Amino acid sequence: MINTGTIKIKDDEFVELKDIIYKNAAIAFADSKKYLIENRLSKRLQELNFSSFKDYIYYLKYDSKKREEMEILLNHVTINETYFLRERAQMDHMIKNVIPELIAKGKRNIRIWSAACSSGEEPYSIAILLNEAGLFGKANIEIIATDINTEVLQIAQKGIYRTISFRGVPPAIQQKYFTKDGFTFKLDPNIMNKIKFFQGNLSNPMLGSKVGKLDVIFCRNVLIYFDVPSKTKVIDLFHKSLNVPGALYLGHSETLNKISVSFKMENFGGGIIYRK
Ligand SMILES: C[S@@+](CC[C@H](N)C(=O)[O-])C[C@H]1O[C@@H](n2cnc3c(N)ncnc32)[C@H](O)[C@@H]1O
Repeated sequence: MINTGTIKIKDDEFVELKDIIYKNAAIAFADSKKYLIENRLSKRLQELNFSSFKDYIYYLKYDSKKREEMEILLNHVTINETYFLRERAQMDHMIKNVIPELIAKGKRNIRIWSAACSSGEEPYSIAILLNEAGLFGKANIEIIATDINTEVLQIAQKGIYRTISFRGVPPAIQQKYFTKDGFTFKLDPNIMNKIKFFQGNLSNPMLGSKVGKLDVIFCRNVLIYFDVPSKTKVIDLFHKSLNVPGALYLGHSETLNKISVSFKMENFGGGIIYRK
């Protein structure tokens, strides 16, 4: 008989699994998130015919398929909430200020990184707004977008979205850039072609060499899941990866307070920009 219930995780198993997730993705689960692990992983354990987290942890640590399972585990436990034009004021600030300033300084190749892009709404919003402002014709603008979760990256690469991704999007923008197909909306291939997606783990020290030098970084709504030492490492990576002048935008509830003093913080009214 197929068991469809939730498998309970014992305290010591939770500590061990939390540690595995932290070491592999820097995500620091609070003790109050035990239910989230149980809810999100019970089905996976049942697929593997495990009746306890102890067996699953053993599999993750010692099985020949442990690498593949780590990817599946991280796909299950990451929080991928996102939508088009989220915290738009920062994107508008980049379009109206940062990019024109770079172009005015004679910069012809501009690189933007959406670090932790989830299913693509963030980098695609950036591309749509750059297109609306006619900026693609004024410089070679390359947008790269990375996430640790390979499932959301597949969604991003398909460019097909449901209504939930469009909360707050002006209907004119939605109609101009998306084609309705039943209950879904397909993004214009001319915008899709502007983004290079690839898997990138922010806790991997090699990520910097994979992404190269950048002019603007968006890293929003992911550092909230990291503890101070991990945030510090990621911010150091961003600082090393940015050209001068360079710009970093974090999520509204994220700050560099007590993390780094390497950036100049500027409040532009609609949010904060960290400048290098
Ligand atoms: C809440 S979403 C934010 C998406 C988008 N930046 C936004 O603000 O709408 C957080 C994303 O961070 C990703 N993430 C979590 N840990 C990560 C890590 N160590 N490296 C890269 N991405 C990570 C998750 O997979 C998820 O897609």
